[in-house]
Amino acid sequence: MEKMLAIGLEGIVVAETDLSLVDGQNGLLVYRGHWAQDLAISHTFEEVAYLLWFGALPTEEQLSGFQTALAQQRALPKEVKEVIDAIPHDRDMMTVLRTAVSALGGAEQSWPPTLEQSIAITAKMPTIIAYREARKTGREPQEPRMELSHTANYLYMLKGVVASNAHVRALDAYLVLTQEHGMNASTFAGRVVTSTQSDIYSALTAAIGALKGPLHGAAPSEVTEMINAIGSKDQAEGWIRARLESGQRLMGFGHRVYKTIDPRATALRVVAAELAEDDPWFDLATHVEQVGTKLLAEYKPKRKLHTNVEFFAAAVMRAVGLNEELFTPTFAVSRTVGWCAHILDQAGRNRIIRPESEYTGNMPKS
Ligand SMILES: CC(C)(COP(=O)(O)OP(=O)(O)OC[C@H]1O[C@@H](n2cnc3c(N)ncnc32)[C@H](O)[C@@H]1OP(=O)(O)O)[C@@H](O)C(=O)NCCC(=O)NCCS
Repeated sequence: MEKMLAIGLEGIVVAETDLSLVDGQNGLLVYRGHWAQDLAISHTFEEVAYLLWFGALPTEEQLSGFQTALAQQRALPKEVKEVIDAIPHDRDMMTVLRTAVSALGGAEQSWPPTLEQSIAITAKMPTIIAYREARKTGREPQEPRMELSHTANYLYMLKGVVASNAHVRALDAYLVLTQEHGMNASTFAGRVVTSTQSDIYSALTAAIGALKGPLHGAAPSEVTEMINAIGSKDQAEGWIRARLESGQRLMGFGHRVYKTIDPRATALRVVAAELAEDDPWFDLATHVEQVGTKLLAEYKPKRKLHTNVEFFAAAVMRAVGLNEELFTPTFAVSRTVGWCAHILDQAGRNRIIRPESEYTGNMPKS
């Protein structure tokens, strides 16, 4: 077989999957035969998780059983709370999440990964974040509420009050749109670990570590910082020009696969606009989008750089009252569904993932 060098694995297909289609040329995203944007408008986190894991949207009866199964798994074991409490308060939330998910790994059969494990871990992700957030700020952690949906319960545990329907729907739309996205870096990391027949906790720990990076999941908080630093519409062009002139990147723009606008950004712009009403921050954000797109076309004419999902994710999360430190962990709450789907997929037709490297060093003298 002829070998080729593919730095960053761009354009390399490493698996077949029926979970999602990411069409970067045309800006399309399909989850198991459904447009992701349509699912975000008319379906909940639980319905779409069911679709990804079981292959079809649930009937009412299936949905009810699935919601109960998830809700029953929300509570954290005592020893995991102790592990979280032992992490110094200056550590970021992704570090806490990575450590807590690792600590969830128990004595049960480690291979193959199961749907039951996927449900149990997905159910606990919001609880880990909310528990830590409460402990860090000196509040009593809220116990999860069975009767609330996944998203409503997450907001409830974070704030101590039941959120409005508008906030739950908006965050639900974000969580649906980011559940799954093909062979992104964190999903690939999870699949690589799974391909060694290691356990699902190790695979998810690797995936969380990959999502933590600013080029993947940590962009939304940097988008907020960028918009805050710009401060007003009249400063946008100068600020962005200075950034691009110095060779730096604009956060929330560009994508490895999408060479047109990210369909998730289009959908989230609508969701964010509904919540924002006359919010000057959102007005500034849409202005920054326009100026950034225009200037990126000027500075990088061949690259087709547009806003990605992170740009408006920041606006939605800000509008529902999440602080910046919670942006990437909230992304992890949704992407756990896709990670688990890929881990199960990998395990079901496993071949160890083992690419090669090209040696550019010296050969021994003799
Ligand atoms: C997402 C991202 C990592 C994809 O990167 P990639 O496919 O590896 O593309 P490259 O890093 O090879 O960049 C290609 C070119 O576009 C430029 N570019 C890409 N994204 C850019 C951005 N956001 N701002 C400025 N320039 C950008 C690069 O500087 C490079 O230019 P060059 O060829 O003149 O050196 C990249 O677009 C990025 O860093 N975006 C900002 C972070 C972000 O929003 N991440 C969330 C992704 S959902």
